[in-house]
Amino acid sequence: MKVLVVGSGGREHAICWKISQSEKVDKIYCAPGNAGIAQVAECVDIKAMEFDKLVAFAKENSIDLTVIGMDDPLVGGVVDAFEAEGLRVFGPRKNAAILEGSKAFSKDLMKKYNIPTAAYETFTSAEDAKAYLETSNYPIVLKADGLALGKGVLICMNKDEAMAGVNELMLDKKFGSAGNTIVVEEFMTGREVSVLSFVDGKTIKIMTSAQDHKRAKDGDQGLNTGGMGTFSPSPFYTEEVDEFCKKYVYQATVDAMKAEGREFKGIIFFGLMLTPNGPRVLEYNARFGDPETQVVLPRMKNDIVEVFEACIDGTLDKIDLEFEDNACVCVVLASDGYPLDYKKGFEITGMEKFDANDGYYLFHAGSKFNEEGKIVTNGGRVLGVTAIGNNLKEARANAYEATAWVNFDNKYMRSDIGKAIDEAKV
Ligand code: AMP
Ligand code: GLY
Repeated sequence: MKVLVVGSGGREHAICWKISQSEKVDKIYCAPGNAGIAQVAECVDIKAMEFDKLVAFAKENSIDLTVIGMDDPLVGGVVDAFEAEGLRVFGPRKNAAILEGSKAFSKDLMKKYNIPTAAYETFTSAEDAKAYLETSNYPIVLKADGLALGKGVLICMNKDEAMAGVNELMLDKKFGSAGNTIVVEEFMTGREVSVLSFVDGKTIKIMTSAQDHKRAKDGDQGLNTGGMGTFSPSPFYTEEVDEFCKKYVYQATVDAMKAEGREFKGIIFFGLMLTPNGPRVLEYNARFGDPETQVVLPRMKNDIVEVFEACIDGTLDKIDLEFEDNACVCVVLASDGYPLDYKKGFEITGMEKFDANDGYYLFHAGSKFNEEGKIVTNGGRVLGVTAIGNNLKEARANAYEATAWVNFDNKYMRSDIGKAIDEAKV
């Protein structure tokens, strides 16, 4: 089989690597890819939003399966564009990707189908939002309705911050049209867990759990980022939590989408908060998480191409998803200054020591070849240093050990990825 993957981050590197393990696959292409992905796939110079070019490439090269990694093309309807030409593609159609594309949609869906989530109100006028915020309890959470690179969520400690937040999202349009509508949501407390799942329209199969670290600095300080590191499994994702979510969240979401005429095929990523009152859905994403994927796929036993195909064909009920009884930790090496200003173009050295056979992976997030053919930094998040261990503590020690193997100017990482592991009872 020939497979095309769309995207260019650490997530897509992990997906390409996992696809490369499949006996069914002879050739992998990635558009646009990066210097790390180039080790396992042929990179194609087409951007993720260039649907016509992607479709033409898939036709010309007889691609048997295309896998979409990123949210923007999914929400923009890339799957519909492929299907219109009779091409096989993994991911939700536009009318289902709205689960991630509109927070107002997903909140209304949860309310309608009694899926546990924070209480909320939706506003399309700044004036109405401000009137509501006059008499709200604080802290409170403001969310831009549309895609905002994970940065459209403001936690407001008091009324002044909330009013400023409304101005930022709705009037100054910091995230463009994503802020035309906002969701104002009850503030919840608890641990966060990321749960990825495969969905074929009617059946859902849950992958192993993971936890992200969204803030830039140690101690969960600093700005929100795409994610500075992850571990899997989450020791806080207990059987009790699993049972609750199986009963009230996972299948309920798939059934709700079907009932709305928006059959979901692809990945649903459940962002959960384990509150004192039980698990609540913080958000849905319609794609693999980044960097959750980097710690989940190395633990997955199945041939991922078989699972992708079962989702497309509606035969996921025949698949037993299996994960190794081990643990995995990913520490992101970023460019100092991320997520604001940072420099690019520094040579990366020391990459040869990583060997997946030993349980060490170096997933590239932002790298490219320079004119001399050397691999240089090309983004805020540069590399995901990922290691397997028999348990979480061992995996964490291995990952941090491996962070010293690679170097580039302005290398920055958090030193406390997986700190929650020490707080777990197990
Ligand atoms: P989201 O993009 O909706 O997952 O939000 C980004 C981050 O904001 C989450 O990972 C949480 O840390 C935080 N957050 C979102 N919604 C809430 C909420 N209702 N209460 C407390 N924290 C929240
Ligand atoms: N790591 C969070 C996300 O992928 O949205």
